[in-house]
Amino acid sequence: MAMDVAVAGGHGKIALRLLRLLAERGDRARGLIRNPDHAPDLEAVGALPVGADLENLDPDAIATSISGCDAVVFAAGAGPGSGAARKRTVDYGGAVKLIGACRAEGIRRYLMVSAMGVRDPAARGEQMRPYYEAKLEADEALAASGLDYTIVRPGRLTDDPGTGLIEAAERLERIGAIPRDDVAATLAACLDADNTIGKSFDLLGGQTPIAEALAAL
Ligand SMILES: NC(=O)c1ccc[n+]([C@@H]2O[C@H](COP(=O)([O-])OP(=O)(O)OC[C@H]3O[C@@H](n4cnc5c(N)ncnc54)[C@H](OP(=O)(O)O)[C@@H]3O)[C@@H](O)[C@H]2O)c1
Repeated sequence: MAMDVAVAGGHGKIALRLLRLLAERGDRARGLIRNPDHAPDLEAVGALPVGADLENLDPDAIATSISGCDAVVFAAGAGPGSGAARKRTVDYGGAVKLIGACRAEGIRRYLMVSAMGVRDPAARGEQMRPYYEAKLEADEALAASGLDYTIVRPGRLTDDPGTGLIEAAERLERIGAIPRDDVAATLAACLDADNTIGKSFDLLGGQTPIAEALAAL
């Protein structure tokens, strides 16, 4: 059945790929953006742009932006050029605000784009540590929220074309990369795979078709 899905950070590279996939399969795809100039890019992939700055809007306004959705995906991020303060307000604060908005609106399904490095922020260099700490705390808040969560932890993201083949497990013992195309396809597939509810998993490019890899989690 078609779903109504809101993707926070809607103009991001993963988000635009995901919104396109959702629209193509007949879901109602909403992208939450903070810059109105990004709206045409969302419309071009078949998505509905909704203005929602996760840092500066109050929780009620964020709730309104996702009203009526069946699921949300947190794909926002302060990005590599930002300092520790914005890791707190976006990567942690934005994710937590979205949890509150889901609670307020009675939306149960929440997918998180996390990162493999959250497993051990202390092992990271000084510059990356605030990012991984913020992501880890956001993941912990989601896992404790009581929502139907899935936490997806990709390795290094690339813009290579997707292969549809992944490796996914609660803990992968190698490091590596994955195309953003395949992260987006995995997120879309999670929405159809209820066995992923309540799970967190590492995600890399691999040899297994996405649906098969998710079914084995
Ligand atoms: N890079 C990696 O190798 C890697 C690895 C694993 C996981 N990740 C995670 O994957 C996430 C998604 O990756 P990506 O490549 O799609 O990132 P991206 O292209 O940088 O997208 C992040 C999006 O978040 C939006 N955003 C920032 N602040 C916001 C706010 N206050 N309110 C609403 N939206 C806001 C940005 O919008 P603006 O354009 O308006 O700034 C941007 O569109 C990253 O953020 C990171 O946490 C990254």
